[in-house]
Amino acid sequence: MTAPLRDIQQKSVIVTGGARGIGRAIALRFLQCGAHVVIADVDESGVATARELSEDGYASKVHFVRCDVSKRSDIEALVAETTGHFGTVDVLVNNAGIFPRCDMLQMDEAFWDHVLDVNLKGTFMLCQTVVPSMIERSSGAIINIGSNHANAGEPATLAYAVSKGGIVTLTRNLAKALAQHRIRVNCVQPGWIASEGEMARWKTAGMDEANITAHMSRMGLGRMQTGEDIADAVLFMASDMSRQITGQVLVVDGGNSVR
Ligand SMILES: NC(=O)c1ccc[n+]([C@@H]2O[C@H](COP(=O)([O-])OP(=O)(O)OC[C@H]3O[C@@H](n4cnc5c(N)ncnc54)[C@H](O)[C@@H]3O)[C@@H](O)[C@H]2O)c1
Repeated sequence: MTAPLRDIQQKSVIVTGGARGIGRAIALRFLQCGAHVVIADVDESGVATARELSEDGYASKVHFVRCDVSKRSDIEALVAETTGHFGTVDVLVNNAGIFPRCDMLQMDEAFWDHVLDVNLKGTFMLCQTVVPSMIERSSGAIINIGSNHANAGEPATLAYAVSKGGIVTLTRNLAKALAQHRIRVNCVQPGWIASEGEMARWKTAGMDEANITAHMSRMGLGRMQTGEDIADAVLFMASDMSRQITGQVLVVDGGNSVR
């Protein structure tokens, strides 16, 4: 057996939603471990992210593909481009996600469909597209990013919570179906991270410095979580260190759920 994380070297990894936030931290961690990374994002700022990471010394190892994960044609193009660029897809990290708020009674169908299409259907379509080549190689790891909202009741995040509950169910079912092919499927469930998306939400909600500090002081392990906290758990789930783990939800919430 190789030293811990050595198996990640030269692996080809897709990180959706990797232009910023948690996804960017995940992409960087894989690069630091010697993997090749495709950052797939609907936002063209992924071009700048890939450039920054290239300048950090990962020039030939990182590539950006514009992809809206809710569109099958984009997903097929993403997987074809990744395979053309790096040969295979060994690891898929389904991180792209949106978390808009809306009261249940105000919510129209378009809102519901959009959240479910990006967060849940996109994850399913990506899995469905990469799995055939993983089956051919009898190897692969898929990590789906969930949320503690899957277990919570908060009316304004109903569509988001349902999408993340679906991620848990999808993870368990795919893990069962794909274990015979030595493909592992797991979910990493973050708690609360000050990502760009989350900070924009605070601003819209009118949260000021004092609110945020008060929230932070209530975090289980005493601080806000970072993208790196989540990235390390994803790396674990992608590596041989978790070789006998599939169909599981790894909660990385700084202890919040045990308080
Ligand atoms: N930040 C938190 O506290 C938190 C907590 C639990 C779970 N999560 C989950 O972590 C993941 C990342 O969240 P984040 O906080 O980094 O958010 P973020 O908004 O900072 O980043 C999300 C990224 O996903 C991309 N994206 C959005 N829609 C897309 C689409 N249709 N196709 C491709 N890319 C798309 C965005 O452009 C962005 O780059 C999400 O799945 C989110 O639900 C976040």
